[in-house]
Amino acid sequence: MTPTAYMTAGSPYAQQTLAEPSVGKSRKGTICCGCSLLIFVLSSIIAFLSAAVIGLAAGTGIEASRANDVANQLAVLNSSIATSGPTKTTTVTAAATATSWNDLDNGCSDNPTSITGTTYTSFSLLGGLKFTMYCNKDAPGTPYMSLFVANMNTCMDACAAYSKYIPTFFGNNKNTTCAGVSFIPLWTNKANATAGGAPGNCYLKPAPQNATALEDPNIGTECHAAILAGNS
Ligand SMILES: *[C@@H]1O[C@H](CO)[C@@H](O)[C@H](O)[C@H]1NC(C)=O
Ligand SMILES: *[C@@H]1O[C@H](CO)[C@@H](O)[C@H](O)[C@H]1NC(C)=O
Ligand SMILES: *[C@@H]1O[C@H](CO)[C@@H](O)[C@H](O)[C@H]1NC(C)=O
Ligand SMILES: *[C@@H]1O[C@H](CO)[C@@H](O)[C@H](O)[C@H]1NC(C)=O
Repeated sequence: MTPTAYMTAGSPYAQQTLAEPSVGKSRKGTICCGCSLLIFVLSSIIAFLSAAVIGLAAGTGIEASRANDVANQLAVLNSSIATSGPTKTTTVTAAATATSWNDLDNGCSDNPTSITGTTYTSFSLLGGLKFTMYCNKDAPGTPYMSLFVANMNTCMDACAAYSKYIPTFFGNNKNTTCAGVSFIPLWTNKANATAGGAPGNCYLKPAPQNATALEDPNIGTECHAAILAGNS
């Protein structure tokens, strides 16, 4: 992989909007209008699941597969309503709850100066390595690997996993230690990654890394870095 693999962002920086999760209820005749208790109960469940589907669909990875499961349950319930009586009076709308970049990058998008310099401890079973975060920075070096991860924290977990497992195959050397990451929130969405020619939203970077050597991102969208704490 060459560094140019993620040098192109298709479109200029555009923050995703965070829609308030206002669950609009326009339910005609909640329990009257000949609506049986069964249908009312099923309708309520569908309303809840609809909101869940839309919310989960905004996420990635595990959340997306959960959204799929919920969507399947919803389809089953929906068909049971369709066949359980002639009085179908339910109109359910639910607003989407989109995931903002700020939710993905620990606050780097909205509060870069207060997040820069804070540390994250990677998952305990991956060594509990500490990473210092630097918002709006790019860790230099040709990536070992590009990945799609759920958020910046799981990107740092992936870096810790690399350093935990790669030496078991290739021994301990300069190339088997991940010293930092670059995380690009826009590319968490695979459509956006495709548009930007990016094979991931998380790039594992080689040693050495240090705070002063971090680069200013030049990829047309936000990029946040983290490096192993202890590396000055
Ligand atoms: C529920 O079923 C109706 C038809 O009975 C269909 O028009 C609608 O799209 C379905 N909704 C979902 C969420 O599956
Ligand atoms: C580390 O990777 C570089 C680039 O692929 C290679 O030139 C170098 O020989 C590797 N070093 C070790 C110790 O494997
Ligand atoms: C990212 O993807 C979303 C959904 O596919 C799209 O609406 C949005 O315009 C994209 N943003 C950029 C900056 O390409
Ligand atoms: C930081 O890293 C750069 C390049 O890897 C190196 O030239 C520089 O000496 C390092 N600075 C410190 C303070 O370690």
